Amino acid sequence: TWTMVNIVEEQVERIRAEVGTKRVICALSGGVDSAVAGALVQRAVGDQLTCVFVDHGLLRKGEAEQVEKDYVAATGAALKVVDAQERFLGALAGVTDPEEKRKIIGREFIRIFEQAAREVVAEAGDGDAEVEFLVQGTLYPDVVESGGGTGTANIKSHHNVGGLPDDLQFTLVEPLRELFKDEVRRVGEELGLPAEMVWRQPFPGPGLGIRIIGEVTAERLDILREADAIAREELSRAGLDREIWQCPVVLLADVRSVGVQGDGRTYGHPVVLRPVSSEDAMTADWSRVPYDVLAVISNRITNEVREINRVTLDVTSKPPGTIEWE
Ligand code: XMP
Repeated sequence: TWTMVNIVEEQVERIRAEVGTKRVICALSGGVDSAVAGALVQRAVGDQLTCVFVDHGLLRKGEAEQVEKDYVAATGAALKVVDAQERFLGALAGVTDPEEKRKIIGREFIRIFEQAAREVVAEAGDGDAEVEFLVQGTLYPDVVESGGGTGTANIKSHHNVGGLPDDLQFTLVEPLRELFKDEVRRVGEELGLPAEMVWRQPFPGPGLGIRIIGEVTAERLDILREADAIAREELSRAGLDREIWQCPVVLLADVRSVGVQGDGRTYGHPVVLRPVSSEDAMTADWSRVPYDVLAVISNRITNEVREINRVTLDVTSKPPGTIEWE
């Protein structure tokens, strides 16, 4: 649309003026905000941008490929992929406490991104091509929340960003600072990003790591990824994407129950479907998903994912339940 074209043009001009001939780095998470922010910067300064994608192995089915293939195809962005799946699994081994998981995932992410950023800086290397800018997908509501909406708290230059060491400092580029989420999505469409990415429902940074109740292992991640993909596919097919805020699928990995699948008795795991409707995730109600849709999801998951023999529905509002289980 006209306004989206205007927003894109205006931001592209601003980014060019801000960045000049310097180099820029952008961490892609698989989420909407970093994807759109990166695409705007790519549109503005092309090859001066290097995107970094730390694949922690906790994304849902197809999401890493979306970043590595579809995003690159749509934007032409230079992408450095760090396959850190083994490292995250190693760091998470034996850990069951939710906060502990969050801390470990956040810490590893920063360390790995820092290393990747150093490599990008070293590769760019030659004096006048220094990497000086880091893209952040900060949205208007975040700016207001942190008191920046008054116009006085613009991010200062050479701000140290979220846990990066002092000798690795960047100036922030925040092309989404004036936008709301729905505008970000429309800008993403305007920039030709993959629809799955642009319309992705909220997904926590620690990813599937906090949707496995119990220890996170490669096998459990595979099981959850399959079940989650089925639930997403069927909710979309039923036309419920816009109605449902998000639908975590949670694997109760330490729980087993007796079932009968195919020819015999099984002793498998339950998954929980947690579809919620919400305006802002501060409060939420459980979504009244039609029984027919739930039945299809349940049948498909128990038929197609061998290790799962029960599908349950979470009918708790927030409060008292949070949206995620951990
Ligand atoms: P809760 O579970 O607190 O979730 O009701 C509210 C919203 O926040 C998301 N969420 C997270 N997002 N990092 C994130 O980036 C996190 O650690 C995290 N924990 C929860 C959740 O998916 C929901 O949209």
